[in-house]
Amino acid sequence: MNNTSTAQHLPTDVGAEIAAVKKDWRQRIHDVPALLDQIVEHLESDIDAIEREHQQGKSAWPEVDFKDIEQGSVDEATLAKIKRRGCVVVRNHFPVAQAQAWDQSLIDYVDSNNFDQQYRGPGDNFFGSLSASKPEIYPIYWSGAQMEARQSERMATVQCFLNSFWKAESEGKTWFDPNVNYIYPDRVRRRPPGTNSNGLGPHTDAGSLERWLVPAYQQVFRHIINDNFAQYDPWDGAYRSEVNEYACGTTRCSVFRTFQGWTALSDIKRDQGVLFSIPIPAAMAYVLIRPLMEDVPDTSLCGVAPRQALPVDAKWHDILLRGKSTIPDMAPGDSVWWHCDLIHGVAPVKDQQGWGNVMYIPAAPGCEKNKRYAQQCAKSFATGLSPDDFPEEHYEKEWGNRFRWEDLNAIGRQSFGE
Ligand SMILES: [Fe+2]
Repeated sequence: MNNTSTAQHLPTDVGAEIAAVKKDWRQRIHDVPALLDQIVEHLESDIDAIEREHQQGKSAWPEVDFKDIEQGSVDEATLAKIKRRGCVVVRNHFPVAQAQAWDQSLIDYVDSNNFDQQYRGPGDNFFGSLSASKPEIYPIYWSGAQMEARQSERMATVQCFLNSFWKAESEGKTWFDPNVNYIYPDRVRRRPPGTNSNGLGPHTDAGSLERWLVPAYQQVFRHIINDNFAQYDPWDGAYRSEVNEYACGTTRCSVFRTFQGWTALSDIKRDQGVLFSIPIPAAMAYVLIRPLMEDVPDTSLCGVAPRQALPVDAKWHDILLRGKSTIPDMAPGDSVWWHCDLIHGVAPVKDQQGWGNVMYIPAAPGCEKNKRYAQQCAKSFATGLSPDDFPEEHYEKEWGNRFRWEDLNAIGRQSFGE
């Protein structure tokens, strides 16, 4: 972790800070149970709609075909559903053969560099310890497959489409440029047939404790904290690009991502331990306010701890879990995307059938914060180091066949803030 320049410092007494914030918010809200009721009422209409779709055997995830994004012909109903659900599956984002070729080239890349012999085990404990001699998440950032996908026109087209759901201008300020995207180099996942996995519980990324304690996040959620939930818009970009996560732990995100996402490199069946979300962006309001209720100790935020993803569980967030919705079957080249506040997780699986291979590629729009991090990444790219947000594993440093600066196209160069 070299990237401390923009990071917040974790308070020395986290419990005292939490208690102080809760006292302040309670004063501003006056009647916390009434606010929570209002939030629940709003969420219930979404949860009911999701449950109805599940009863009909459908996924609540909206789907859109890449061609319609490219041609600007996505219909109004689909656009409205993406906005309501905060997530989407993009079908045929890349041709099947292209995605399968990338999958194979990733294998060739790690094999040609004897990665199995070099692998030293998981470099972080962000999600607890997944003991394995072979990784599930490969700390590989600079392969040809990843870079070709990141700098492709198809990726830029989808990222711009996704950015456009956000309000880039508000409070008299332009917060980001939805037509510009910066690189956020992340890892790949390769999960072989026969895998047994406990999955990952429901959580959100993009900060945990920060969502209560960091001033910029308090601005993001200003309408909720000021007892004005009706005004709260999860798609308002105001202050999002000013949030800096704590300089602690091993996995943090230094950029503003409009959407997190991954691109499938294999067929992934919906009953094989896959991604689910609670597809309601405003559910974050419930997560934020629930700890202010009397039954939660003053220094607690319902299980939130520094250095960990924000957990959502049955004890505190039972109502939200009713909205849990699994992605539909994915084909190689399909991609999946979810709003940065969206609660998500990975279902457990026993004896997984088929592979489960993905490249994590999010949407990080044009703003100073994202540009600054992209420029830091350019240095890691040039030297084959792990990007600053990730554990300092640096496997690719000596790998001669990693992607090179001269292999970048115009999109790729721009994405590094050039
Ligand atoms: Fe996550």
